[in-house]
Amino acid sequence: MKVVVFDNYEEVSVQVAQLVEAQILRNDRSVLGLATGSTPLGLYERLIEGVTSRGISYQNVRTINLDEYLGLGEGHPESYRTFMTDNLFNKIDIVTENTYIPDGTPDSAEEECLRYEQVIDDVGPIDLQILGIGTNGHIGFNEPGTDSNSLTHVVELVASTRESNARFFPSINEVPTHAITTGIKSILKSKQIIVMATGKDKAEAVKTLLSKDMNESFPASILWNHDNVTLIVDRDAYQLVKS
Ligand code: PGA
Repeated sequence: MKVVVFDNYEEVSVQVAQLVEAQILRNDRSVLGLATGSTPLGLYERLIEGVTSRGISYQNVRTINLDEYLGLGEGHPESYRTFMTDNLFNKIDIVTENTYIPDGTPDSAEEECLRYEQVIDDVGPIDLQILGIGTNGHIGFNEPGTDSNSLTHVVELVASTRESNARFFPSINEVPTHAITTGIKSILKSKQIIVMATGKDKAEAVKTLLSKDMNESFPASILWNHDNVTLIVDRDAYQLVKS
């Protein structure tokens, strides 16, 4: 795992945007693995700017998102489909049919998991996967204890994740209890992975990740099994790592 430290969130966003745009310029049919959450918002702003200011085109790009809440339809204001539409897809020239996110209201969640894993295999492999990291080490919605061989599956969200995401909902009771997430093994199918971590709240998680102790109780640590991972952090997130 390569580690790169920048001064602040802004610089992290700019750097990751440059890596994404370089990938698209190398291959305009690239497959990007995308994440939701607060961390990639600055990245998405830069990517939008890249379309208007740098002539980057997403016309042929395909995107595969990590996860979706179970029970929230496409049009729900807090669905991850809505998040991606509002924060990126509607503001770049991507073709909606080329953007893949699990269906949050499938007839059968189990069948949707199988279908989505097939999407990863058929549309992918993902050239460049963007990941955030949870304070408990989760990646996607793969919570501590997730099997490192997991493919796309249904998860019950742990209390801390529901509490942390409650800020987007009218009350915690409205935060879904389950989600569909790509598994750890699905994520490891990507050719290249970039993990973004910013802010002091992520300092403990970054320290644990860089202790190199591979353990399913800290899902992000399984990324040490992949040979092309870059952790891009700001100083606040890196502050507990001894140099
Ligand atoms: P955040 O979430 O970007 O909102 O901090 C990261 C995650 O939980 O994966």
